[in-house]
Amino acid sequence: MYTWEDIDGKSITLRPEYTAPVVRSFIQHNLGANSATQRFYYLGSLFRRERPQKGRQRQFNQFGIEAFGSHHPEQDVEVISVGWKILEELGLNKGLSLKINSLGSKDCRELYRDSLKKFIRPNLEHFSITSQNRFKTNPLRILDSKSESDKNLLKHGPQVSDYYSKEDQIHFDEIQKYLKELKIPFLIDNHLVRGLDYYTRTTFEITSDALGAQDAILGGGRYDHLVENLGGKPTPAVGFAAGIERVLLSIESQGINNNKKNIDVYFACIDSLGLSVSLSLSNKLRDLGISVLMDTLRRSIKAQLREANKSGAKYAIIVGEAEIKNNEAIVKDLQNGTQMKVPQSKLINKLSGLI
Ligand code: HAM
Repeated sequence: MYTWEDIDGKSITLRPEYTAPVVRSFIQHNLGANSATQRFYYLGSLFRRERPQKGRQRQFNQFGIEAFGSHHPEQDVEVISVGWKILEELGLNKGLSLKINSLGSKDCRELYRDSLKKFIRPNLEHFSITSQNRFKTNPLRILDSKSESDKNLLKHGPQVSDYYSKEDQIHFDEIQKYLKELKIPFLIDNHLVRGLDYYTRTTFEITSDALGAQDAILGGGRYDHLVENLGGKPTPAVGFAAGIERVLLSIESQGINNNKKNIDVYFACIDSLGLSVSLSLSNKLRDLGISVLMDTLRRSIKAQLREANKSGAKYAIIVGEAEIKNNEAIVKDLQNGTQMKVPQSKLINKLSGLI
């Protein structure tokens, strides 16, 4: 973390992640009182004092979601599937892998940590320096080691799944069942512990083969004790965060073009009289979720229609002098070139039926 002493001697730390701040806010504003479950999202910059490399900066951005209140597996799956869907909608589904794991509930995690320590201790000197340090601070993270010899040494070590309670196993099985039903492909990786200390039961990560060594685009998990550990009422929770720079790197390296404009309607006005009508109809269409562009350069109708075609809009709406006089508008289908006159009072209904 970035921590330093400010001018008045106060210790200041820059935010390294969002989950703990969201939990702090949840407790401080008593948000749990509003309803039994609460869902939040965030987007913003974070700071970690790590060695910079491709895909790993000291200042970076994340978006993420956190869901509070449910300890059931469907909540984990809802969170995972939202993350998967967002990446899919960005065109990133090729080359993505979802890895999931369960670290079991608190007791299981502790039993497993002790047995892992017992297994590693006699051989500690054969492990990498990083793992030797982790042995003191967070032994479970040794499972995350990138060193091949560490991985070999761990092959005969204890498995977390041997320590699951019956409920832990049911929870993990149900997650797998729902993911299969949603046709979200996944791999089970019993070594997925992740860098943060607050996880219980589910952990997951989505990696992209378009990235280098830093291949995790999105990571998250369940943290059923963090709210009470930070002073709130016991509240289960699960969430994820995705690295925006890594999302962009993957989009770029896969040559994905997300510049499609997705314009539904382009308003072309033949003279300035049509402008008031166009402005007001545009807003009404936007209220319905229809995306609208309107010409604001008062160009010739020919130039405006050329622009309409270029914008990729499905329909152009033409409002000229004659149409204003008759309270009508021309709706032109830009794909097949046909056009029809529609009374302005029916235009909104007509377009919402077409789009
Ligand atoms: P995290 O795995 O530390 O999890 O970070 C989530 C994502 O942020 C990573 O998968 C990666 O894409 C991006 N990221 C992390 N560090 C860097 C960096 N130095 N440079 C660029 N990108 C980076 C968390 O932060 C948890 N708070 C996730 C979570 C939410 N767990 C439960 N709820």
